[in-house]
Amino acid sequence: MAFKIGLLGLGTVGTGTVEILLNPTQRHPLLQEIEIHRVGVRSLDKPRSVTLPPGLITTDLESIVTDPAVDIVVEVIGGLEPARSLMLKAIEHGKHVVTANKAAIARYGDEIFTAANQAGVYVLLEAAVAGGIPVIEPLKQSLCANRIRALTGIVNGTTNYILTRMQTEGSDFDAVLADAQRLGYAEADPTADVDGLDAADKIAILASLAFGGRIKLPEVHCEGIRKISAADITYADRLGFVIKLLATAKRDEGPDSDALQVRVHPTFVPKTHPLASVNGVFNAILIEGDPVGQVMFFGPGAGSGPTASAVVADILNIAAILKVGREAVMRADGTPLLDPLLACSHQDYCAIAPMAELVTRFYVRFLAKDSPGVIGKLGTCFGNYNVSIESVVQIGMRDELAEIVVITHDVREGNFRQALDEIRTFETIASIPSVLRVLS
Ligand code: HSE
Repeated sequence: MAFKIGLLGLGTVGTGTVEILLNPTQRHPLLQEIEIHRVGVRSLDKPRSVTLPPGLITTDLESIVTDPAVDIVVEVIGGLEPARSLMLKAIEHGKHVVTANKAAIARYGDEIFTAANQAGVYVLLEAAVAGGIPVIEPLKQSLCANRIRALTGIVNGTTNYILTRMQTEGSDFDAVLADAQRLGYAEADPTADVDGLDAADKIAILASLAFGGRIKLPEVHCEGIRKISAADITYADRLGFVIKLLATAKRDEGPDSDALQVRVHPTFVPKTHPLASVNGVFNAILIEGDPVGQVMFFGPGAGSGPTASAVVADILNIAAILKVGREAVMRADGTPLLDPLLACSHQDYCAIAPMAELVTRFYVRFLAKDSPGVIGKLGTCFGNYNVSIESVVQIGMRDELAEIVVITHDVREGNFRQALDEIRTFETIASIPSVLRVLS
């Protein structure tokens, strides 16, 4: 008996999913047992690149999630609503859910997984983070014997494309963004990507899996790449770094070591670091676990085929479980027993460490009056706040001001920010155009 899919959405990812499901040759044999039962779309008139049997497509999405014949609802419409409500309704009707929706999961994962656990259904989301790169399943299963120490990723292709072009062309952010929009690499409204919000959704999901607790999205520190200038890229290059938008989740090494750091910000990455050579639209996630050490996942983070590859893998995972009848095993209270490596069982929230407690190196660029004693005053002020300087360079003038670049040793962020606040008041300091963290 075939497993019946109710597909919500026939955009880029939905079309890629249909293309795989309709063409199972030389793929896993279980694909032949998957049947597209209904497809929900916003408009019937839109031209489609896939041909589906007549009568399959409907604009009544609710009829799909309540259809008794549907086994698995695949949500690829994106956005918060109606995606959230449709997923909840599908769960309420006993459907397993496969979703690519990082925004809804990062915000409503709590509600969705609680409902799924009560209903005894799976909600799988491999496609929600880093498109075609398998990282959710490895975190849940292949790496589950590890104590995860850190997870560092380039999880947004748009910003990685923009930063890569800024680096190779020496161009400023605005010019590259405009060209990326013209070429279709960036959205007309690029906010979610360039301000780091998309990456914050993704690292919240990954952190939750890696560290076994729920994450409150507003607690994820998030900075985007709008303020990165060609000058910063050039200094990074001279000093042996590239600038990447990194999404990081790691156990805090400070006094409260039960807390997590979960943050997204542009970062100076040493050119020798494995993430430094991840360029263009590609994504990569470096996971550090005990005892496995470092494992890096690299590949296409978006696009029709890669994202559909992850969606269909989740469909097959659920179909495989249904096929061996594990869903029929009941708990004492009568609810189905779920595979603990596939279901989400987190109940508690992770404590997130304040950014002031972060210990990191910094790059800071000052524009200053070119007068005697400026560098000395900077050094003294940093010293007063226990901020140790690794290097200071003053290469040239910009806008008739001396450009001074400082790299610190590992310092407590709170101390560094206090020193900067004081330095801002110096009569000789015209501005502080850039402050970026440096990956050690
Ligand atoms: N907008 C995302 C990116 C792709 O640029 O990586 C979908 O998650």
